[in-house]
Amino acid sequence: MQKITINKIIKKKNKNPIICLTAYSPAIAKIADKYCDIILVGDSLGMVLYGMKTTKEVKIETMILHGKAVKKSASKSLVVFDMPYKTYSNKLIAYKNAKKVIKSTNCDAIKLEGGKKIVKIIRYLTKKGIPVMGHVGLLPQSSNNFKTRGKNFFQKKQIFEDAMAVSNSGAFAIVIECVVESLAKKITKSVSIPTIGIGASIHCDGQILVTDDMIGLSDFSPKFVKQYSNLKKIIEKSVKNYSRDVKLKRFPSYKNVYK
Ligand code: KIV
Repeated sequence: MQKITINKIIKKKNKNPIICLTAYSPAIAKIADKYCDIILVGDSLGMVLYGMKTTKEVKIETMILHGKAVKKSASKSLVVFDMPYKTYSNKLIAYKNAKKVIKSTNCDAIKLEGGKKIVKIIRYLTKKGIPVMGHVGLLPQSSNNFKTRGKNFFQKKQIFEDAMAVSNSGAFAIVIECVVESLAKKITKSVSIPTIGIGASIHCDGQILVTDDMIGLSDFSPKFVKQYSNLKKIIEKSVKNYSRDVKLKRFPSYKNVYK
C-alpha cells in the first residue's frame, strides 16, 4: 500500500472524496488504515475514552501516548495529531509543543482549532515545516455548547472569514464542524484546500466522524452521525454470556485448559 502524503490529500480536492476517521488505539487504527486517507488522533478521546466533560481537560502527554500507538499501527494513512487546549496559545509555545509531538509520535501533521485568531501560528508552524490542518465552525476547545453554527448572518460571515484565513495561511486541509449546509458549500467552493466535514454536509471534499460514535460505542448520537453498527449491544451480549458461563461453570471448558 502506498503511503498517503499531504500532496495526495490536496490533489483530491474537487475530485475524490477524502475519507477520515478518528483512532485512539492500535486495534481501530489498523482497521481505519485499510480504508481511510486520514486518521485523526482526536482530542475527543478525553470525552470518549476518559469520561471528561470537555476536551479542555486533555493533556498533551495523554495525547502523545495515543498518538504513538496509532502512528505505529497505521502504515498507509496520513496520521494527524490534534493539539490539545492551551498547547498553542502563541506561535512559540505552539512550535515547541508541535516539535515535541512530531518527534515523540512521528505523526505526519497536527490539527489546530480556530480561524483568524490563529493565522500567525499556522503561518509560523508551516514555515518551520510542520504541516497543519485547520478546524473551523464548532470549536469544542473554546465553546460552551454543541449547537449548529452559521445559522445567522454574523456567524456565517465570521466562520467564512475564518476558513478563508486558515486556507490562506498555509494549512493543507480544514475541518468544518457542525455548520449549516449552505455555509459548508460556500467555504468548500471558495478555499483552495480540501474541506473535511463533520456535520457539515455532502458538499465538503471529505468526511470525518468520531469512530466510537459511528460504531455505536459512545453515548453521543447527534443527527450528523450515521451509526454503522451497535458495538455496545454486541459487547453487552458477550459480557452477559461470559457471566452466565462462569456462573454455570461452563467456562473454562476442556478447550481452554492446558494439559
Ligand atoms: O477531536 C476530534 O475527534 C475532532 C473531530 C471531531 C474532527 O476534532
